[in-house]
Amino acid sequence: MEKGAVFMGGRQPESRKLHLFILLALLSIAFTFFKSYSSHTSPAHTAILQRCSRLKQTPGSDRFVPGTKPTLIKNATIWTGLHNGTEVVHGDILIDKGLIMGVGHFGTASYGNDLTVIDAKGRWVSPGIVDIHSHLGDAPSPALDGAEDDNSLKGTILPWMRSLDGLNYHDQSYHLSIAGGVTTSLVLPGSADAIGGQAYVIKLRRTEEKTPSSMLLEPPYQINSSEPWDASIPPRWRHMKHACGENPSRVYSATRMDTIWAFREAYNKATEIMKQQDDYCRKAEAGEFENLGEFPDNLQWESLVDVLRGKVKVNIHCYEAVDLDGLVRLSNEFKFPIAAFHHASEAYLVPSLLQQVYGKPPAIALFATNARYKREAYRGSEFAPRILAEHGFTVLMKSDHPVLDSRHLLYEAQQAHFYGLPENLALAAITSNSAETMGMGHRIGYVRKGWDADLRLPRTVFIDGISQLQTPFTFEKPEAFQKSPKVPNFDKEAELTLEYDGLPPLKPTKGIEVAVFTNVSSVFVRSSGNVKLAYSTNTGVGGVVVAINGRLVCTGERSSCLAESILGTGVEPYVVDLKGGSIEPALTSYGAPLGLEHINQEASTNDGFAFEPLSQTIPKILAGDSVVRAADGLLFDTRDALYAYRAGVTTGITAPSHYGFFFGLGTAFSTGASHKLETGAVIQEITALHTAIAFDDVPSVSTQIATLRKLLLNPPEGPDGIWFKKVVEGSIPLIVDTHSADVIATLLMLKAEVEATTATPMKLTISGGNEAHLLAEHLGKAGVGVLLFSRPFPTYWDRKRIAPGPPLSPSAVQHLMAHNVTVGLMITEIWDARNLPFDVAWASLDVNGTLEKEEAIALGSVNVEKLLGVDIEAQDADLVARAGGISFFENKVVGILSPRRGVVDIFDK
Ligand SMILES: *[C@@H]1O[C@H](CO)[C@@H](O)[C@H](O)[C@H]1NC(C)=O
Ligand SMILES: *[C@@H]1O[C@H](CO)[C@@H](O)[C@H](O)[C@H]1NC(C)=O
Ligand SMILES: *[C@@H]1O[C@H](CO)[C@@H](O)[C@H](O)[C@H]1NC(C)=O
Ligand SMILES: *[C@@H]1O[C@H](CO)[C@@H](O)[C@H](O)[C@H]1NC(C)=O
Ligand SMILES: *[C@@H]1O[C@H](CO)[C@@H](O)[C@H](O)[C@H]1NC(C)=O
Ligand SMILES: *[C@@H]1O[C@H](CO)[C@@H](O)[C@H](O)[C@H]1NC(C)=O
Repeated sequence: MEKGAVFMGGRQPESRKLHLFILLALLSIAFTFFKSYSSHTSPAHTAILQRCSRLKQTPGSDRFVPGTKPTLIKNATIWTGLHNGTEVVHGDILIDKGLIMGVGHFGTASYGNDLTVIDAKGRWVSPGIVDIHSHLGDAPSPALDGAEDDNSLKGTILPWMRSLDGLNYHDQSYHLSIAGGVTTSLVLPGSADAIGGQAYVIKLRRTEEKTPSSMLLEPPYQINSSEPWDASIPPRWRHMKHACGENPSRVYSATRMDTIWAFREAYNKATEIMKQQDDYCRKAEAGEFENLGEFPDNLQWESLVDVLRGKVKVNIHCYEAVDLDGLVRLSNEFKFPIAAFHHASEAYLVPSLLQQVYGKPPAIALFATNARYKREAYRGSEFAPRILAEHGFTVLMKSDHPVLDSRHLLYEAQQAHFYGLPENLALAAITSNSAETMGMGHRIGYVRKGWDADLRLPRTVFIDGISQLQTPFTFEKPEAFQKSPKVPNFDKEAELTLEYDGLPPLKPTKGIEVAVFTNVSSVFVRSSGNVKLAYSTNTGVGGVVVAINGRLVCTGERSSCLAESILGTGVEPYVVDLKGGSIEPALTSYGAPLGLEHINQEASTNDGFAFEPLSQTIPKILAGDSVVRAADGLLFDTRDALYAYRAGVTTGITAPSHYGFFFGLGTAFSTGASHKLETGAVIQEITALHTAIAFDDVPSVSTQIATLRKLLLNPPEGPDGIWFKKVVEGSIPLIVDTHSADVIATLLMLKAEVEATTATPMKLTISGGNEAHLLAEHLGKAGVGVLLFSRPFPTYWDRKRIAPGPPLSPSAVQHLMAHNVTVGLMITEIWDARNLPFDVAWASLDVNGTLEKEEAIALGSVNVEKLLGVDIEAQDADLVARAGGISFFENKVVGILSPRRGVVDIFDK
């Protein structure tokens, strides 16, 4: 494309052009009005001046910040979002006036020194990420009581509430989300109410004005006025949140029946008002002005009337078939369209129901693998995105920020793709399709001439043409990451999920005594507390691994290996082709109550919470013997443990569930076992003494520390005292849940104080550790290891000083490892246990590609065990057979070699 054409205004979507035109016209009218008022210009003069000023106008974004220089991004591989997300253009992108001026090939001559040129070196550029479900600003981070503006509890029907009125400009997470490529979010009210209120689209960048209003993207005119505005201006999309099922029912101690009636009553009211308005206008338009009276308006209900008029994008939090069914009936009874169902964990089970929504089928906005945290999410499936896409639904991935940190929305898309959503749709699910669903597809979500200059580049993110990362901390990702991963085939699993209404059997289908794995490209094993490479080949033929009774007996070349182990035994081995895959140590999950709960929010499915001695009264019968054992509460066959097992996370280490300061003993168990008495089910009954230091008001942090000091320096007599003595002797570790650098520093001093009395090193491990990187050197010297979340987030004040990792800083793992601190990865909720391989892969990518695969695997296995007092003999440890490539983003677990249980478990389906 040649340059001249770029400045002729280019092609812009019609409505867009009109909006800009009208906006500029209004501004110029206001300006000339002001001038004429001050200098008494005549109306004729005003018209002339208006015309003259219009000559000087060039097209640009209404969000353009004067002074922003044009930028040319050269030599990019551009995913445009067009053609169903399949178009890729190799070329340049020219941005100016807050807009994309062109995609193609451009010279730089006419810009002179004003032009910033960025060389993308052939790497990917995509539209900025558009999050269809966020609470950024309304539920700001760190969470503080003074700024929880997400849910009004003044009644379940509140269409007059506006998320804009609670939008906090100082949410600490805006810049984090931008670092993840997020440029636009739809900020929805929470889900406590059936109708929670109106939602607003924001751009995440800082503005000159530093106000919530200045963040809004094409806000409806109603934000400034309850009066009608100039009828010649086309209306803008409005947005509204609805919710059904558990949340509104729980908050109002109601039932689903109550909630649906509340909806019907509200929509009936809005319908009556709409009818009165239509009658009124019919009369006015027929010239019957006599006795017409006032226009039947109602400030409380006007937004719901607009829903009925099809002017509002309705976004509905709704999980189960029973609730989706209710809302589909509601939309038909009152005739209003639904933009998207959110969460919608059973949507994939009822596609034909969803096709019956009034108007057109809704988009479905999902989490990738976040499920089972409550009853209505129990049938959530990783295959929902692909199944819904196969039925022709627009599938979106969403964060529900801060439920998931929207910085990692791309991770959600990656997981959806891993489980079968085509790559073009996975990217569209967080860009073009989410933009279209929020009614903003005419200006965001694509790399396209005339669209907003919101872009994700290799080293920065642009919003409205402004680079958001001036000095990124980043490094070139390995070349392999410029190609899309070859993801596994899960067709059979997806079919089975449908066959079993979302609850497919998860147990291995076969327990094999003699297994032969062929085409193996590498074998890693445990060795003296570390992971080491035992075998690798790149011949294209691959090696062979033989396992008998779950134990690896031979690795190497086919004929010799088979001769050595099987030939002549008369046994017919079970052969598994790993297609270039690997055999590796199984991973170990820690951090969530895995094995202690089935459904987090259903008390009757869980072990429950330990007593907390400083804030609760421990019953007399337990006096002196209240250090509980997680092993006594273990529950087997929980779906999250089985999902973990299938993902190669075969050991769970769990502390008793607790909120605050407590004492309890951890345990290690097999995630694949059926009950406690099965061989190998309990791997180590007692692992370590766990406690937590919590910022809870009462008892104070200092009271908790004082208690800990007392128990360590003067362990009481009796059963409880034994555990504190063991900690002091260094025979079991003390694990302390804390994120705060201040608490960690205090604990390091307390450790020294205790050691001064014993001269034996005490084993201390920090669990959580968002702020541990600040004390890396001290932790290294004290030999204290840290269990970390691989995606740190400033959830609360005590953990807000995070090391966010690239592109904002070195990662916490990198900081800590630089000081020889032993680091392991942990999770917070049990559904996430299955994702440990992804966590390991992402965490190692963030360490500047300097981490060897052995070290990466250690982050999710031997290190975790070491830090938690778990001792698994290398020869007894599970190994995982992964088929199809050695990257966790590409391969699939096909079997578990379990020496403890004497079998190889095979996942056939
Ligand atoms: C969009 O892409 C998906 C997956 O690649 C494909 O199944 C679908 O048919 C495409 N739709 C259109 C309209 O091209
Ligand atoms: C684009 O970048 C790639 C990778 O650095 C390079 O091989 C190629 O020559 C560049 N193309 C142009 C047109 O500069
Ligand atoms: C609301 O008013 C502000 C200034 O008072 C103006 O800048 C903005 O454009 C108005 N927004 C709408 C949507 O009318
Ligand atoms: C081994 O797997 C690789 C990767 O899938 C493949 O290219 C190769 O052809 C396979 N070799 C054999 C002998 O099957
Ligand atoms: C970490 O350990 C290595 C190897 O033992 C040692 O060379 C290095 O000096 C240590 N680094 C720090 C910061 O202690
Ligand atoms: C990343 O590693 C490369 C080489 O391995 C090195 O040149 C570069 O300085 C490192 N970058 C950072 C930010 O650590």
